[in-house]
Amino acid sequence: MLVNARDEAFPGASWAWKKILRFGVAFLVVLGFVAMLWPSVETPVLPMTTVSNITISSDVKCEIDTDLLSRLDVLKLAQYTRREIVVDITDEHLPMTQRLDAPFLIAKGGEGAQDGCSIPAPMEVKVPRPPKLTIASHIDFGVATSVGRLNDSLNAFQHWAGYTRTRIFALLEPDETGGEAIREVKTKADAMGINLIITESEDDYLRRYFALIPLLEENARESTRWGCIIDDDTFFLSMPKLVDALAKYDHTTPMYIGGLSESIPQIATFGMIGFGGAGVFLSRPLMTQLAGVYDECSQMDFTGDRRIAMCVYTYTQTRLTVDHRLRQLDLMHDASGFFESGREPPLTVHHWKSWFHADMPKLAVVAELCGDSCLLRQWHFGDGWILTNGFSVIKYHYDPEAGDLAMEQTWDSHNGASDEAYLHELGPLRRKDDDKKSYQLQDAVIEDQHVTQWYIMRDPKYGDEILELSWRARGK
Ligand SMILES: *[C@@H]1O[C@H](CO)[C@@H](O)[C@H](O)[C@H]1NC(C)=O
Ligand SMILES: *[C@@H]1O[C@H](CO)[C@@H](O)[C@H](O)[C@H]1NC(C)=O
Repeated sequence: MLVNARDEAFPGASWAWKKILRFGVAFLVVLGFVAMLWPSVETPVLPMTTVSNITISSDVKCEIDTDLLSRLDVLKLAQYTRREIVVDITDEHLPMTQRLDAPFLIAKGGEGAQDGCSIPAPMEVKVPRPPKLTIASHIDFGVATSVGRLNDSLNAFQHWAGYTRTRIFALLEPDETGGEAIREVKTKADAMGINLIITESEDDYLRRYFALIPLLEENARESTRWGCIIDDDTFFLSMPKLVDALAKYDHTTPMYIGGLSESIPQIATFGMIGFGGAGVFLSRPLMTQLAGVYDECSQMDFTGDRRIAMCVYTYTQTRLTVDHRLRQLDLMHDASGFFESGREPPLTVHHWKSWFHADMPKLAVVAELCGDSCLLRQWHFGDGWILTNGFSVIKYHYDPEAGDLAMEQTWDSHNGASDEAYLHELGPLRRKDDDKKSYQLQDAVIEDQHVTQWYIMRDPKYGDEILELSWRARGK
């Protein structure tokens, strides 16, 4: 039986009773509005000055160039701290993470300070002597991309390929500007010391990718030992390190060297293959074998990096050699735990401008001053702040013990991955620190043998805090 709820709730309700009820409801509605509109009680907001849309807190005790702030995407500035870092290049053996007793972020201004934003005393750090100029004429790289993406990738390529005598073969979709764009990109590459050889192809991306193998094979020169297929966002941190790593493998036998995904569900989906973004290295004898079965492999259903693997596994007895320093980085949104781990840096990183954001060309700027071997190098200061060179300045809620190499699992799960799905490549792991304070690298420039890095702690509510680190070599 259906019961009229209203009738049941107010049996024999009088006119007066209804009026009281209406008044009560109206009172509650008004109260709700007042509560919503009442100024919230918070930490007092500091007086701010606003110049061309940029608000600067009165806590900032120096003149700040507003052009700099807009370049750094800062609309509201709460703090600005400058510190000079003096680099000592040494032949001593140094661990990746060096512990220093001295605190890092100390009081600004006062005696000896340049202004009220500067920490008076420079911080002195030691870095290993960088290797001499590297010759990499025995490695040829192949990349399938578009002319626009190639143009955008040149800054990154310059870091590892510039003036090393390596060659990059780019297989591009046809240039719609009738060759003008390709000429422009080629000129830019020449000026950066990159040997770029461009070929156009009508094929779609995944077919062009596989076509890189015969392209590299046909163009091999006497010195060629390795062909390497990369994505346009595969970044090598150090060519000298790559050359050393490859020297440990036998280039005279068929070899297929690559990196697996860091995530098991990705391996389950794509197979035990050299994941393309990590860089896939083929020795010259293997390239010759693969070129011999190119037509057969071109008929396969698999495409891209999977087609390379299936071609190798179907027609040769060569198997994948996993080099764990070649990194696909299938890490979603926040890969900071990987970069801040204090472990030996990887040979390659990938997905840094898509799955997560870490500007590799900017990270690499400081290498101009202290060499590739000082990238991602860490200093753990007495006050708990940790500088990971080129990436971040952080302070954990709980400071890890010296020698703790557990990696903070900062990334989001992808493709249904469990926490354990990353252990085979990245363990030991520890839980994400939700209270970690973090200044992330936003920009870096070199001028007159001085490198300036800007790290920013974003806070849309109270304003961003900027840390400007200015690097110079001792005596410069
Ligand atoms: C301030 O911001 C508005 C809208 O965001 C923009 O139209 C204007 O050009 C900005 N003014 C300055 C001086 O940057
Ligand atoms: C290459 O990039 C620059 C900016 O870095 C841009 O000005 C130029 O138009 C681009 N050229 C092509 C061919 O995409």
